[in-house]
Amino acid sequence: MKFNIVTLFPDYFSLTLKQSLLGKAIERQLFDIEIINLRDYATDKHRTVDDTPFGGGGGMVLKVEPLDRCLKALGYYHSDHRKAGNDNERIILTSAAGKKFDQPRAIRYSLCERLTIICGHYLGVDERLRHLYDLDEVSIGDYVLSGGEPAALVIVDAVARLIPGTMGNFETALEDSYMDNILGAPCYTKPAEYEGFEVPPELVAGNHKEIKLFRRREALRKCLANRPDLITEADLSIEEEAELKRSTDKIKKAEKEKDNNG
Ligand SMILES: C[S@@+](CC[C@H](N)C(=O)[O-])C[C@H]1O[C@@H](n2cnc3c(N)ncnc32)[C@H](O)[C@@H]1O
Repeated sequence: MKFNIVTLFPDYFSLTLKQSLLGKAIERQLFDIEIINLRDYATDKHRTVDDTPFGGGGGMVLKVEPLDRCLKALGYYHSDHRKAGNDNERIILTSAAGKKFDQPRAIRYSLCERLTIICGHYLGVDERLRHLYDLDEVSIGDYVLSGGEPAALVIVDAVARLIPGTMGNFETALEDSYMDNILGAPCYTKPAEYEGFEVPPELVAGNHKEIKLFRRREALRKCLANRPDLITEADLSIEEEAELKRSTDKIKKAEKEKDNNG
């Protein structure tokens, strides 16, 4: 797998990509990341890549020509690329107005051979780039960043950890939040007691069946508390459905009592 990151700030990535899981995986050549300076595709002596917006208003817009030149240099030819709708290599445009970047999308991207991520800046990117190329316009959340660099790092991290070999134990990823449309279970480590709070006995007793049941139950509980919207998509057993209904009724009752008292 090869990641290309197109940015105005190449230094933003230099330290981060040497750290932790990603740094080790790059060292072991499990994937490769190339940081590309968009200014290398400017043609004037000031290396201009932005200009004022048509229609007025403040701010600057990233010009379409340097981005087009850059993508062509990476081997994408816009008419061909649009037609191909190639799932093996995607071009991602980071954008606050994009489609949600979530775990299913991270899994899809982890199966690609090449991902090119464009970091926007200022007001964003000239809209015509979207017409020229088959881009995935992707947002990492409902807020506005000053540039696409943090978003690119988020995408690389979420995708790269799914590439075989990156994680020491891939099994753990299968238990992560969002892998099964629910959240991950809470976890504990030593000491077994801290400030009067004990580790749940199911985790200490060493019975694998009990541990599995406990984790599933707690994951569902967390999901109900933090992300009830996810549960409708989760694959639940009949017992879990019943348990969930009991918990939901309990929460609703408590909320009603609170309203009545307040
Ligand atoms: C200041 S933002 C531009 C916001 C844009 N004018 C809008 O209203 O959607 C500059 C750049 O940051 C990046 N960016 C901002 N928020 C983002 C988000 N939530 N997800 C991904 N990229 C984001 C994009 O690359 C964007 O072009």
